[in-house]
Amino acid sequence: MRAMKDLTPREIVAELDRFIIGQDNAKRAVAVAVRNRWRRRQLDPDLAREVAPKNIIMIGPTGVGKTEIARRLSKLVSAPFIKVEASKYTEVGYHGRDVESMVRDLLEVAIKMVRREQADQVRERAEAAAEERLVSLLLGEDQSGSDAKAKHDAPERGWVRDEDAGYRREQAGTPGPVTVAETKTASETASDEHNRVRERMRQKVREGFFDDREIEITVREKQAAPIMGMMGPDQFDPGMSSILENLIPEKSHRRKVTVKRARAILLEEETDKLVDTDKTVEQAIERTEQSGIIFLDEIDKIATSESKHGADVSRQGVQRDLLPIVEGSAVNTRHGVVNTDQVLFVAAGAFHSSSVKDLMPELQGRFPIRVELEALTRDDFKRILTEPHAALTRQQEALLETEGLTITFTPESVDAMADLAAEANASMENIGARRLMTVMECVFEEISFRAPDMVKNGETELTISDEFVRERLKQIMQDEDLRKFVL
Ligand SMILES: Nc1ncnc2c1ncn2[C@@H]1O[C@H](COP(=O)(O)OP(=O)(O)OP(=O)(O)O)[C@@H](O)[C@H]1O
Ligand SMILES: [Mg+2]
Repeated sequence: MRAMKDLTPREIVAELDRFIIGQDNAKRAVAVAVRNRWRRRQLDPDLAREVAPKNIIMIGPTGVGKTEIARRLSKLVSAPFIKVEASKYTEVGYHGRDVESMVRDLLEVAIKMVRREQADQVRERAEAAAEERLVSLLLGEDQSGSDAKAKHDAPERGWVRDEDAGYRREQAGTPGPVTVAETKTASETASDEHNRVRERMRQKVREGFFDDREIEITVREKQAAPIMGMMGPDQFDPGMSSILENLIPEKSHRRKVTVKRARAILLEEETDKLVDTDKTVEQAIERTEQSGIIFLDEIDKIATSESKHGADVSRQGVQRDLLPIVEGSAVNTRHGVVNTDQVLFVAAGAFHSSSVKDLMPELQGRFPIRVELEALTRDDFKRILTEPHAALTRQQEALLETEGLTITFTPESVDAMADLAAEANASMENIGARRLMTVMECVFEEISFRAPDMVKNGETELTISDEFVRERLKQIMQDEDLRKFVL
């Protein structure tokens, strides 16, 4: 997939179309908002500073794709992205997560992202270095850790060890300058021999010959500061917790792991050596500030009408704490200060028992773009059942295929499921596309249970017809009381 910066709004919508049916307005709004970040970055710094992100509120009944749009968007964008539930925050000083922690979490996402990119850049070198160390380990020549004695032994065997992994790799790959000499001394021959041994071992390692064998390696681990465990990192001054973390010594201990696992651990260590951590953080902060996106789900849960009782007061508190972050402020993190002026916020909520007007006016003002998501229709249901990349019918087919049972849905059976879901939504609570899952479960309850037996009895193919669907759901649709529990 191409980087987000190359995707036009139309292309972003097209990508989202692969997973989400309908809701064009919402898709267009998020596509434009994301593209606008890129546009802003092309501007003169003077002007760019003035352009505020156009935050979005998505309003729509439950189960129509609000969270799903966010989830898919996050996979699509190469920007740091987190989804948080507004309802899990409480005011500063109360028990719960403080609102600023969402910015810290966003930065952590960015750091992982930047680090992964940098790791990709040094992958070849890191892999080679890790392989060399693995070869040494398997030959019992590991010099990492504290066995200084081995280092002294080395020259006698005609093998010069070097701390620098990259250098070792080059040494080992070619015979080295020693062979240039006309006549070989005993130690040079030994060195040749040693290189041959290593080369053979390297070959075997590459083939995965030792993958399941266990070896002992030294791993370094940071221990969590006990005090932070007790309080939770949020209640803690972020600067303080990083100081504390530095005070706790890295503990290294020997561990028995499979060669396969050891390779992963060593690769991680070698990558660490090659990647500049300070730069990673610097870039990550920059990226968080310039292109970070925070998806604030369930924002209706912190909206409240004027009454000033317990829970409402707390909700208003969360709104008040949220305001400066959405407006743009400097948030302290353990890696440095993050400015939220340009962070894009996409909020979503069902707003059935409250309305957007129940948010503080200042907060409303920071979300200039409102998009309404429509309730899903019977036809939408039909498409949702079959079209998206991981549509429910496809999931069900794939699951039962693992048992050796091949399922085929007739077009009419899909119609029937869509009908029944729409009917249930109309006569009971409207839970949107989530209803399809319960309908599907209901249709397959018996088959899911019996599939292995069916296959054993030679029944390996099954066509789901509309009669079958109606039959399975008939009783439940008729029986009001039962319906409430099952569907
Ligand atoms: N338009 C749609 N196209 C495809 N699938 C959908 C659509 N809407 C909802 N779904 C499916 O229904 C489920 C619930 O949707 P989602 O989580 O997006 O609901 P929501 O709008 O966030 O509701 P809530 O307000 O309850 O959080 C998801 O698994 C999603 O795959
Ligand atoms: Mg949701």
